[in-house]
Amino acid sequence: MTKALVTGCAGFIGSHLTQRLLRDGVTVVGVDGFLDNYDVAAKLRNLAEIGNHPAFTFHSTMLQSQRWKEWLDGVDTVYHLAALPGVRNSWGKAFADYVNHNILATQMLLEACLARQKPPVIVVSSSSSVYGTMQGTLTDESSPLRPVSPYGVTKEAMEQICLVYAKAYGLPVTMLRYFTVYGPRQRPDMAFHRFFRQMMKGDPVVIYGDGQQSRDFTYVADAVEANILAARHASPGEIFNVGGDREIKLLDVLSIMSGLLNLTPNLSFQLGPAGDSLRTCADIQLAQTRLGYRPQVPLEEGLRLQLIDMRAQAKG
Ligand code: UGA
Repeated sequence: MTKALVTGCAGFIGSHLTQRLLRDGVTVVGVDGFLDNYDVAAKLRNLAEIGNHPAFTFHSTMLQSQRWKEWLDGVDTVYHLAALPGVRNSWGKAFADYVNHNILATQMLLEACLARQKPPVIVVSSSSSVYGTMQGTLTDESSPLRPVSPYGVTKEAMEQICLVYAKAYGLPVTMLRYFTVYGPRQRPDMAFHRFFRQMMKGDPVVIYGDGQQSRDFTYVADAVEANILAARHASPGEIFNVGGDREIKLLDVLSIMSGLLNLTPNLSFQLGPAGDSLRTCADIQLAQTRLGYRPQVPLEEGLRLQLIDMRAQAKG
């Protein structure tokens, strides 16, 4: 692999992936539209951490500007992370934006790749939110898709349009269903970022619901590794769960966080916005056997690394 396009390169996972590719000697074209789901200052900080690498070219624009000829020139792999993320804000008028950025922009990318004489390999970021609230033991990729948020519906539709292009044209597109990714640079609207910030300021920690909901939290470097492995080993149309080391309840995560900060937070339980899944738990066997994916960072260590990053941000 020599040249990659990373869409959403200034975002949380996209900026880590870009840095990893550059470290691996890959030339990277990055596109980011600075959608307002993630504050601009934070994205600029992410870009600053990527730095003025000679093998990195950055385009500050929306995918809808469709400068594919320029972006895809000489590219053999596309990592598609640009999206409007966030489960809880996808209701009401915002839904049109979710459709625009998650479905329509992805279809534009697929068309542009298909138009190339030799289409690049495309790794698309999907989400555990396509499953909704999980039942039973572990959820594998053949489990029913029952999203509980409009966001989850757009991610499911995004997967379907990718599958259509893979089936009809053999387009080498593969999808990764990430399970709640965390770590340094986590989006400011996400739980761990908010909890650490609230605790560091001495504010009450706002918990949606009773805190008994559980997640299979995934460390960001593991999500990055899954992208690299999928680009190397996946076949057109394959879909993989990308999960972490275990399922854990939110209140149990909070006690690990309190231990790291050596304090006892005040908890404020509030009625959460609709659309929250009560439980996610990934079966990652397929990613293990097909891609060689194995999460490397246990939750305790990942939280410690996120806290170091948040403390550095608070200082700087
Ligand atoms: C996250 C991402 O935001 C989605 O973009 C992604 O697609 C999804 O993971 C996924 O893996 O599919 P979510 O699981 O809601 O969605 O992640 P967090 O925002 O970190 O929330 C985790 C839990 O903490 C949720 O139950 C949420 O209600 C709760 N929470 C969040 C709080 O109790 N308080 C808060 O202030 C924020």
